[in-house]
Amino acid sequence: MTTTVALRSPGMATRAIHWATALLVLSAWVVGSTMEEFPRGAGRDLAMQLHYSLGILVLGFAALRVAWRLVAPLPPAQGPAWQRLGAAAMHLALIGLTIGVPLSGLLDRWARGRAVTVFGGFPLQAPFPVPGGRIWGETHEVLANLMLAAIAAHVLAALWHQFILRDRALSRMIRG
Ligand code: HEM
Ligand code: HEM
Repeated sequence: MTTTVALRSPGMATRAIHWATALLVLSAWVVGSTMEEFPRGAGRDLAMQLHYSLGILVLGFAALRVAWRLVAPLPPAQGPAWQRLGAAAMHLALIGLTIGVPLSGLLDRWARGRAVTVFGGFPLQAPFPVPGGRIWGETHEVLANLMLAAIAAHVLAALWHQFILRDRALSRMIRG
């Protein structure tokens, strides 16, 4: 079998954005899937605010990542075409989801006529009337689950590269 040698080495900014995003997405997911369990009141309001704040940060980092990619494109990956294509498609899907998941969450609140309060009291009002009712909430849930599946596949691919192909893909993403 051909061994993939991922020669590219991600820089400091790429790595910082990558790991900050990973941490924020996983925290947003954990809070998002447990916040409805809280009894109504201050505790649940706090959990919801935390969820929205983490999600808005994910959106901010996604914008930063896209901007950074335009300024400093990744050097081309090495390896068989199907692997390069697969990796590019997966990275594109992950970037799309870091935008689509928080955006659908925001639209859900706005479509229901609610402001989104973040970072301890800062309200984000709908910039325009949002149609669609419950459709955004359903979309948010489906996309959030899809994102978890995509992350699981991405992590498996990273472990496969690191420990089976032994191309240090994961070490490089951690230490550069
Ligand atoms: C990457 C960021 C985010 C992730 C991973 C995420 C994930 C989740 C998950 C797993 C749920 C539970 C779905 C369910 O089982 O019902 C949820 C619910 C929810 N999230 Fe997010 N979320 C993110 C960002 C946001 C943002 C930015 C907002 C809004 C500003 C938001 C608003 C909501 C709302 C309103 C619900 C309840 C939806 C419902 O009642 O069906 N989320 N989120
Ligand atoms: C929310 C979670 C995650 C997202 C959205 C994400 C997204 C991405 C994206 C878009 C890239 C391409 C480079 C870039 O634009 O920065 C990438 C690369 C990479 N990620 Fe993740 N990632 C996540 C979590 C993880 C986790 C938990 C691991 C480790 C177990 C991991 C390991 C890697 C590795 C090794 C690469 C380098 C691949 C290469 O050299 O082509 N990622 N990730």
